[in-house]
Amino acid sequence: MAVDLLLGLQWGDEGKGKIVDVLTSKYDIIARFQGGPNAGHTLEFDGIKHVLRTIPSGIFHKDSINIIGNGVVIDPVVFMKEIEGLEQFKIDFVNRLLISRKAHLILPTHRLLDAASEAAKGKAKIGSTLKGIGPTYMDKTGRNGLRVGDIELEDFEQRYRTLADKHESMIQFHDVDMQYNLPELEEEFFQAVKELQKLTFIDSEEYLNRALKEGKTILAEGAQGSLLDIDFGTYPFVTSSNTTAAGACTGLGIAPNRVQEVFGIFKAYTTRVGSGPFPTELHDEVGATMASVGREFGSVTGRARRCGWLDLVALKYAVEVNGVTELYMMKADVLSGFETLKVCTKYTYKGETINYLPYNIEPENVEPIYEEIKGWNADLTGMTSYDQLPTELKAYIQFIENYLDVPVKVVSVGPDRKQTIIK
Ligand code: GDP
Ligand code: IMO
Ligand code: MG
Repeated sequence: MAVDLLLGLQWGDEGKGKIVDVLTSKYDIIARFQGGPNAGHTLEFDGIKHVLRTIPSGIFHKDSINIIGNGVVIDPVVFMKEIEGLEQFKIDFVNRLLISRKAHLILPTHRLLDAASEAAKGKAKIGSTLKGIGPTYMDKTGRNGLRVGDIELEDFEQRYRTLADKHESMIQFHDVDMQYNLPELEEEFFQAVKELQKLTFIDSEEYLNRALKEGKTILAEGAQGSLLDIDFGTYPFVTSSNTTAAGACTGLGIAPNRVQEVFGIFKAYTTRVGSGPFPTELHDEVGATMASVGREFGSVTGRARRCGWLDLVALKYAVEVNGVTELYMMKADVLSGFETLKVCTKYTYKGETINYLPYNIEPENVEPIYEEIKGWNADLTGMTSYDQLPTELKAYIQFIENYLDVPVKVVSVGPDRKQTIIK
């Protein structure tokens, strides 16, 4: 059987967690392939709200297997807290949550290094979630990292010490004022590592390829969004992994020809948390309304998300880089009540009109060109079928489909599992 991918097409927080949860009953296995606890995937059902960080969003469905792939970075401390938070649901973590031995470990000193590096950058900071993501992937590509499988080695503590000592000297190099108690952080880390060992470690590429041969279905769950991709995002204001479709192949050990559908998730408008260029950002009341109606606060850091109009030029780029086959439009309900909606269809770039995402998209180089579309004023949150949606919203969707040349298959009208309209 094949693998389907589910990816965020903007700067993250598109609503991936909600949709994975909605789709899980159709799949045997849900697998995370990159990122780590910088992610915050929200699921809502039966009046309860959950935010998952490293655990795949299929975990609430009793029959699904959830895999953390080799491309993910795991912080044992955050991870064990996440598990504790789910204890009330009596989830079988040992048999249903499997972790790749090749996934890299986030050490306490990776988190400290992240903070030191950001502090040293001053105004040029990335706006990182400070979860140690960048330093951990640096150690991975620098071939110094520790992996989940290393926990099973006799000299794990010694390997840990060597790396942590190196990190300490790197923290000093940044020469910033930072207070921390490393022995305390290490005690917490080793306690969490001990707990982590109660879970099942696997060779996930072997497991997944065997599952495919046995006819099982897999949904790969992306974290972050395409514009935060280390290669294709708004570098250097990106995360440190490949968030795009190719990342699912390297982050799970699945060959490209096994990939079937690519589901691209996007908000009906655009948000971004952290620093970096954002051509359609609004600094006015319209942006503030999107933020308050859409409750645009980061699920991990609580930071306010920046808001703006839908950017179809950037979305088209993401559709192409990922090979998106179906679009899922989220948070349509948040746009209700605006008389006119704007959609960016071109940019003015260094005085010329262009319809692609150029190398420099900073405000001094790029200005969005908008088309206006009539808005709608209806409460969508109780609607259950496509026919019920206002004509203007259907026209908005049609406009997007025409521009991107990919069908919108799902329209989300609220955070709950049930507020999902299949077209
Ligand atoms: P993820 O990181 O892509 O999983 O997205 P987040 O969970 O970080 O952010 C999406 C936020 O929007 C969460 O608070 C969701 O509960 C919420 N959400 C998802 N879909 C909808 C929707 O259709 N309408 C509204 N109003 N909220 C939604
Ligand atoms: P989910 O999976 C939104 C952003 C950070 C920062 C940049 C780098 O919930 O969509 P990092 O901690 O990775 O070094 O931060 O990336 N960022 C996200 N923004 N959603 C996320 O994940 C994000 N993960 C990282 O705000 O700008
Ligand atoms: Mg999120």
